[in-house]
Amino acid sequence: MLLDTTARTTEEMGALGARLAAVLRAGDLVVLTGPLGAGKTTMTRGLGAALGARGQVSSPTFVLARTHPTTAGPDLVHVDAYRLSDPVELDDLDLDWDASIVVVEWGRGFVDGISDSILDVEIVRATGAGEAPAPDDLDPDDVPDEPRRVVVTATGPRWDGVAL
Ligand SMILES: Nc1ncnc2c1ncn2[C@@H]1O[C@H](COP(=O)(O)OP(=O)(O)OP(=O)(O)O)[C@@H](O)[C@H]1O
Ligand SMILES: [Mg+2]
Repeated sequence: MLLDTTARTTEEMGALGARLAAVLRAGDLVVLTGPLGAGKTTMTRGLGAALGARGQVSSPTFVLARTHPTTAGPDLVHVDAYRLSDPVELDDLDLDWDASIVVVEWGRGFVDGISDSILDVEIVRATGAGEAPAPDDLDPDDVPDEPRRVVVTATGPRWDGVAL
């Protein structure tokens, strides 16, 4: 395991994304796991900002993948696998995996075989009272801060000896 920490606020989750960005390079694959509203996009936004990603990093509702050129060099490809039913559909996107930093929300089980090295990020919402569903009329951009546990695990040779 590379990291087991808590992001107490939206800002802290973004900062964690930036921390990941500092070690990322072309060819890297990051998989984000966690329930709806866990903070996957929030983390990707911080990651993108740190890479100097052009364009808005948001939940890609109608597109499966969005490519952001970055000032850091490699494109940031942000994939939302939520609606994918089959891992081969990821293949169909024809992404330039080797030249890009690819971040896949809901990617677990969809990226097997794509790369021998994966940075797996699990975001766990706090249990207890905070787990109650938010009211329907709550502005999605106005969700109160609530701590998230973030566990980063690396698999594959790419991550040998890499520290966050
Ligand atoms: N500690 C925290 N870390 C991250 N986000 C937080 C935290 N506390 C509150 N939030 C809020 O929770 C929401 C997380 O939404 P976000 O879109 O990032 O989740 P997601 O995991 O991408 O959801 P989805 O599965 O729908 O794509 C944001 O509104 C964010 O402001
Ligand atoms: Mg999202």
